[in-house]
Amino acid sequence: IGGSDMYRQQILDHYKNPRNYGEIEEPTFTHVGENPMCGDTIEMDVVLDDDESTIEGVAFRGDGCAISQAAASMLSEELQGMETDVLEEMDRDDIIDMLGVDISPMRVKCAVLAEKVAQDGLEIYLGEKDLDMTTTEEDD
Ligand code: FES
Ligand code: FES
Repeated sequence: IGGSDMYRQQILDHYKNPRNYGEIEEPTFTHVGENPMCGDTIEMDVVLDDDESTIEGVAFRGDGCAISQAAASMLSEELQGMETDVLEEMDRDDIIDMLGVDISPMRVKCAVLAEKVAQDGLEIYLGEKDLDMTTTEEDD
């Protein structure tokens, strides 16, 4: 991982002490995704408010490299209270900015796994995307 020490420390801290790690009992939706290259997984529970415009709660479980897991932890904090419109518009550049480090092309897939899980889960829930069971980094 390139970039400043401060950001590297932050990534390691999120990896070792993931925020919002666990389950939510009655989520609005749950979605799971994996990186087929390595088998890393992220599963996310999301709670939406009554009019489905704002994210009220997020929890995730996962297994994998420091970048995929730290990105999930950092994203789980950013998603709290976020408008669903904002989540739908997030892209890989937002995640790279959030991480604050240089990410090699190979590892961008690690970085964006959690974001794709959250976004695909939301779009499937809202009926904007065909139902499928898992997200992979290939279904761009
Ligand atoms: Fe698999 Fe990072 S090595 S997502
Ligand atoms: Fe191995 Fe992400 S697939 S570094």
